[in-house]
Amino acid sequence: MASEPFRNARGTRDLFPDDLLLIHHLERTAVAVARAASYQEIRTPLFEETRLFQRYLGEASDVVEKEMFTVPRRLAEGSAAPSEQQSSSFTFRPEGTASVARAYVQGGFAKRAPLQKWFYVGPMFRYERPQKGRERQFTQFGVEAFGAQSPTLDAEVIAIAVEFFKRLGFGAELEVRLNSMGDPSDRELWRVALRSFFAPQFATDAAVRCADCRDRFERNILRLLDCKVAQCQELNVGAPDLFELMNAEATAHHQQVGAALLALGFPAIEDRSIVRGLDYYTRTVFEVHYPPLGARSALCGGGRYDGLVAEMGGKPTPGVGFSIGFTPTELALKELHLPAAADLQDLVSAQAPQVYAIAGSEQDRLPLLALTEQLRRSGLRCEFDHRGKSPNAQMKEALKSGARFFLTLDSAASGATSVSLRDQNDNQPRTIAVAAAAAAIHAALA
Ligand code: HAM
Repeated sequence: MASEPFRNARGTRDLFPDDLLLIHHLERTAVAVARAASYQEIRTPLFEETRLFQRYLGEASDVVEKEMFTVPRRLAEGSAAPSEQQSSSFTFRPEGTASVARAYVQGGFAKRAPLQKWFYVGPMFRYERPQKGRERQFTQFGVEAFGAQSPTLDAEVIAIAVEFFKRLGFGAELEVRLNSMGDPSDRELWRVALRSFFAPQFATDAAVRCADCRDRFERNILRLLDCKVAQCQELNVGAPDLFELMNAEATAHHQQVGAALLALGFPAIEDRSIVRGLDYYTRTVFEVHYPPLGARSALCGGGRYDGLVAEMGGKPTPGVGFSIGFTPTELALKELHLPAAADLQDLVSAQAPQVYAIAGSEQDRLPLLALTEQLRRSGLRCEFDHRGKSPNAQMKEALKSGARFFLTLDSAASGATSVSLRDQNDNQPRTIAVAAAAAAIHAALA
């Protein structure tokens, strides 16, 4: 009996050549907006010691508690680095910031070149319940900027995210939602105040709030504030406001970020419900939303993490960044009927051969294969029929392929020295010496 055919794992996707057109468009847009602001690419490994994420994303975060792809360390392995011996496992990165900050500290940048502006585009892994817009392997475009606490850097980072969506065709409805998490000492005061405010809601067994909130009251009280359940949101009304407890410098920083964004033409919307799910944030936190998308309007999240480098053992260095998930972006683009076909046309063209080499007879095949290889070496995209089809059938394939030039050898049997080259643009066949074929095609393309 035939066995069940294999399928890809839940929450993952196969991306076929046609799917990759859009992905390549997202990638090149990401690279272009990041480079426009002088951000350089960084690539870190796809997995790290588990404790990196446990410690810096927060034991109580959903990501660490429920969503890590973790592989045990083989204890027999003798070659573990001393620091690794403390780690009993490795985890496929659920996000980029912790790895990038680890690399920054390990690379010694805090001391020798603290200002570093980096971007990345790559796969992340979260063992989430797969649903629309949420996958277990997904791509993030992120930027992380180290070495300046100036609010203008927060604004620059936010502007990159907004520009990414604008270049993809998102309209004027794009919103920057801004909040501050203050400094750690402010947050401690706030946690205490929130605990006494919310305690009565959890004093009885009656389910006044949702199950997630009951869990978060114990583990991560700030997350009560971003609960999406309507009844819970009502119960958040009147909760202590961090801004009333925040130190003057952090408050001024927040105001200056708002002013810098205004100067860039993106008036930010103050949103006190943005608390973010990860532990490292200090001061600025933000999200970019596109309200026409309804419940899935959040497209990007980020903020400052001024304590992270020092906590990792580096010289105290501020940092700020964001990440954008490609999956929600792709869904949004689909809903908005974007991008326009013309925006992908160059990518479509780059997939098509420029030249189709057509064998007029069986004897032509090897000399034509050799010529094909020569044309490829010269930098042309050149296709050759490997299925032994008739000249007519090859012609049909050539037409279908979108190639601009059709090339056949003139009388190969007697040792061809010329080719017949037809440019689809004028449909005139020309006879050209074999040795001159590549140059002639390059000249016509130029
Ligand atoms: P995050 O909010 O956890 O932040 O994720 C950022 C973005 O990644 C989300 O807005 C979403 O688009 C996408 N994303 C998250 N989980 C999934 C999933 N399962 N499937 C598809 N897309 C997903 C961070 O990751 C921080 N590192 C952001 C940051 C960078 N903060 C400072 N620097």
